[in-house]
Amino acid sequence: MNESRPVVLVTGASGGIGADLARIFARNGYDLALVARSKELLEALADEIAGLGRPRPLVLPCDLAAAGAIDVIAEQLAAADAVPVILVNNAGYGLLGEVAALDPVAQMGIIDVNIHALLGLSLRFLPELRARRGKILNVASVVGFFPGPGMAVYYASKAFVVSFGQALAHELRGDDVVVTTLCPGVTLTGFQARAGFPTDVGIMRFGAATSASVAASGYAGLMAGRRLVIPGLGNKLLCYIAPLIPSAILLPLVASMQKRRSTKLDRSNSFASF
Ligand SMILES: NC(=O)c1ccc[n+]([C@@H]2O[C@H](COP(=O)([O-])OP(=O)(O)OC[C@H]3O[C@@H](n4cnc5c(N)ncnc54)[C@H](OP(=O)(O)O)[C@@H]3O)[C@@H](O)[C@H]2O)c1
Repeated sequence: MNESRPVVLVTGASGGIGADLARIFARNGYDLALVARSKELLEALADEIAGLGRPRPLVLPCDLAAAGAIDVIAEQLAAADAVPVILVNNAGYGLLGEVAALDPVAQMGIIDVNIHALLGLSLRFLPELRARRGKILNVASVVGFFPGPGMAVYYASKAFVVSFGQALAHELRGDDVVVTTLCPGVTLTGFQARAGFPTDVGIMRFGAATSASVAASGYAGLMAGRRLVIPGLGNKLLCYIAPLIPSAILLPLVASMQKRRSTKLDRSNSFASF
């Protein structure tokens, strides 16, 4: 067991927050295993990290929504004699639109990636993480703190991540396993295009974070052993205040913001953006 190569397993490492998390871990001396569907992007990131003089990360192309994905990752790690000491569950996506209008299979895919894979990897590698006093970084969102008509499945999936991560952190505190839940607000990545946001919406302007700054907050919070990391004062306030707003006010408010977004009328940076 002790001879295996310890790695940070990062899902969704082909771009956005996940790629920047991988860069930070690499700069801080960690070896990596990178997961996403886009093999070429993972190979390019592995080359970039190797170019810094670090060991070249393992590249594990995998569709986390596919049946057996967790087994595939575990087998590839075992074949490379690698073992996760830090698990970064970052892969995820959402879709803009109402439940009745969106493709059912695509909506189930959100659950497969954002919940099923996150939970599957956590359960699969928990023995190794406990044995090595490892760490888990789960990427949730500020939208995990309130319901989101107009993007309902995505918001609900992140509510699972917020709840599960905090509970797991409590359960594992005696094992010295840190579980950090990172809750970014709107961040400029490939997320918006995949979700189906119009390219000209106002979220691209005032107040949006960069993936590099969000990743830095997540890394610092994980290393400090924090249970919850919400980058930015506005996002912190949102997470604490939104759950206090009566549903009769909050639901129509979020729904109308998403509606404006889907009809390309929204030119503001709203809290329903992510
Ligand atoms: N951007 C925001 O405003 C924002 C705000 C709050 C939270 N978040 C969360 O941050 C996390 C990272 O997202 P991001 O903003 O960096 O978006 P992104 O640039 O679109 O990155 C998403 C990553 O997830 C991977 N992924 C998606 N579906 C996958 C699948 N079926 N199998 C394997 N990998 C898959 C993507 O890789 P491939 O496409 O190559 O598979 C990509 O590497 C997500 O969990 C997201 O919900 C984002």
